[in-house]
Amino acid sequence: MSNEYSNQSYQLIAHRGLPQDYPENTLIGYQHAFALPIDMLEIDIHYTKDKQLVVIHDDTIDRTSNGKGKVKDYTLEELKKLDFGSYHQGHFEGEQIPTFDEVLDLHSRSSKKLLIEIKKPSQYPGIEKMIVDQLKEKQVPTHKVILQSFDFDSVSKLAHMNVPYELGVLISKKKYWYKSPDFKAIAKIANYINPNYSIVNKHFMEKAHAEHLKVMPYTVNDSKEARKLIDLNIDGIITDIPDRL
Ligand code: G3P
Ligand code: CA
Repeated sequence: MSNEYSNQSYQLIAHRGLPQDYPENTLIGYQHAFALPIDMLEIDIHYTKDKQLVVIHDDTIDRTSNGKGKVKDYTLEELKKLDFGSYHQGHFEGEQIPTFDEVLDLHSRSSKKLLIEIKKPSQYPGIEKMIVDQLKEKQVPTHKVILQSFDFDSVSKLAHMNVPYELGVLISKKKYWYKSPDFKAIAKIANYINPNYSIVNKHFMEKAHAEHLKVMPYTVNDSKEARKLIDLNIDGIITDIPDRL
């Protein structure tokens, strides 16, 4: 992507599909996101009681379905009976929770990249290997995948598995107040440092780029903010509204 404000290029990433227009992390949202001139789609992964990888943001189903409880306490069959569309203001009744497998099938028909976030990996032993195995089984081209997590140890595990995919470490706003990220340590295991947009400044960008880390801040839904970040030379922008930003 290039734009009128600078001659820099950056990646445009649809966060959880298009959550303002469609239920987040659903196939219908992803289908519409892939149809836009985006570069990547961001998704969140957990697994079920019967160890099936599913795509959902929260570790509970309370906010986005008509059920209650933890994802990991339900089998896939049980989750598939629930409604993940009706929580949204649109008319999406009956939309199901997608499996990772279903998302990979959809993704195989698109040229866009997948930015895969491993959510709360400490709750899901072995999830890193399960994700990588499934990517390999589906023969997803390595250049079409980036794996990321807020959990440094999880990303480190992937790096030590010598996975062929690019890796990213997410940085939350809260963490930053305790101490600045260790750019050198992150650069040893990852290609990206993806921070809450509010902590990005010139100093952050200089530190990251000095370590050859690319920076893709989340979640930017304000065009003034986006302009400021692009002028700071970010490498990508994660947004709920890639069509309107
Ligand atoms: O990709 C970064 C972003 O998705 C992290 O925050 O809470 O929306 O998963 P969250
Ligand atoms: Ca996410």
